[in-house]
Amino acid sequence: MLVAPSILAADFLHLAKDVETVNEHGDIFHLDIMDGTFVPNISFGFPVVEAIAREARRPMDVHLMIIHPEKYVERFAKVGAGMISFHYEAALDESDAVIDLIHSFNVKAGIVINPDCPVESIFPYLGKVDYILLMSVFAGFGGQKFIQETYGRIRAVRKELERIGSDALIEVDGGVSAANARKLEEAGAGILVAGSAVFKAEDPGAAIAAIRGYSPLP
Ligand code: DX5
Ligand code: ZN
Repeated sequence: MLVAPSILAADFLHLAKDVETVNEHGDIFHLDIMDGTFVPNISFGFPVVEAIAREARRPMDVHLMIIHPEKYVERFAKVGAGMISFHYEAALDESDAVIDLIHSFNVKAGIVINPDCPVESIFPYLGKVDYILLMSVFAGFGGQKFIQETYGRIRAVRKELERIGSDALIEVDGGVSAANARKLEEAGAGILVAGSAVFKAEDPGAAIAAIRGYSPLP
């Protein structure tokens, strides 16, 4: 199980501290990019991602919550993203082209859907993506409540991946904590994104370990 702390919940005044926590305890940096149009919120942009890139010793996973994702794939690839995901709802029939574009920069490609988008909509792309990001809250804000239907959606995607013989990973994002991590893993999740559960905890390193399913040594 890989844990991807979401920087959206970090302390931006002391970002270096939270970046170091991910370097030491996490597996992946999850970076939420919002445009105020695809989702009703704006997060952070290139200056912040570039600053993180300078210190990151773990791969950066850029979650694009923007319209026209194809416009910004190159810039995120060039600032060092190792993984880029885009929303199927923003790309629709262009999804194939966006996946190819991400791959053209040697970056892992992920496709994302919100909780109200049928999982079958992305089945045509499962053979070519490296990971599938299933939102377990509606994209746009941290700190929301986990949607229970997510377990069935993970199982449905897992089943289809097995049917086509793909080893793509399923990433889950929104309301993830140590309380639901085991059940998410059992359903078939391979990457868990966690914002509040990590950075609002008293000991973020221990919170990451708890999500992975074991407690750190005293
Ligand atoms: C929401 C973002 C998430 C968010 C998760 O749109 O995609 O990555 O940071 O935050 P928590 O873990 O607090 O639900
Ligand atoms: Zn995210």
